[in-house]
Amino acid sequence: MKGVVLAGGLGTRFHPVTKVVNKHLLDVFDEPMVFFPIRTLAAAGIKEVTLVTGEEISQFKRLLGDGSTLGVHLTYAYQEGERGIADALSRAEALVRGDPIIVILGDNIFQESLRSEVDAFVEQGKGARILLKQVSPEDARRFGVAEVADGKILGIEEKPESPRSDLVVTGCYLYDDRVFDIIRTLVPSGRGELEITDVNNVYIQERSMTYGVLRGWWTDAGTPASKLKASIMVALEKGVTFHR
Ligand code: G1P
Repeated sequence: MKGVVLAGGLGTRFHPVTKVVNKHLLDVFDEPMVFFPIRTLAAAGIKEVTLVTGEEISQFKRLLGDGSTLGVHLTYAYQEGERGIADALSRAEALVRGDPIIVILGDNIFQESLRSEVDAFVEQGKGARILLKQVSPEDARRFGVAEVADGKILGIEEKPESPRSDLVVTGCYLYDDRVFDIIRTLVPSGRGELEITDVNNVYIQERSMTYGVLRGWWTDAGTPASKLKASIMVALEKGVTFHR
């Protein structure tokens, strides 16, 4: 299985900082944000990783090189323009070459090892698998929200006003090689992007989507507040104590 880290986007929620710096190069506690998803892949036993990003690709290359310091072999793919997460993923197709993939959004930070999820998907053989996390109802509105019944996933709603559950879709997706054909069938959403939620809903309609529920803490670092939370979680994990 190969890994893909998606690190493009405009980072508008961090303007003006991200007018000159890619969001995924900002710090989470004491390291660049993008280190975390790459390490998560390495810890899950994934060695071949493609990073997809836009204009700042040379800065990523300067920071990460061939990926060996983080335990992976890294290749790079360029996303022209800002056309959404599914579009970014499509840029990795040539480098992935028919293998199943595990995709992580570059601003997602997972506490636990995802090795058992990779194993579960290898066992499954085809289709897709997503990872869910229980959050507060207020927080759920910021994410894709999954509707689940009897161990089956019925659908995902992207950023709903009234979430149907408190299980949100984290930014880690496991796909078979058909994902690129599915992306080619998508049409842009209201915000002009190819949505990863639309990809996932195709697999759900085909009944080939499974899911796991995370037990450890998880956070995105995609807003100033959630990035601060991520820094605090990482600092606590590293044994830092805060004094008043
Ligand atoms: C994206 C996905 C959303 C998912 C989230 C996880 O949202 O569209 O379904 O819950 O990542 O971080 P975005 O970060 O683009 O708002």
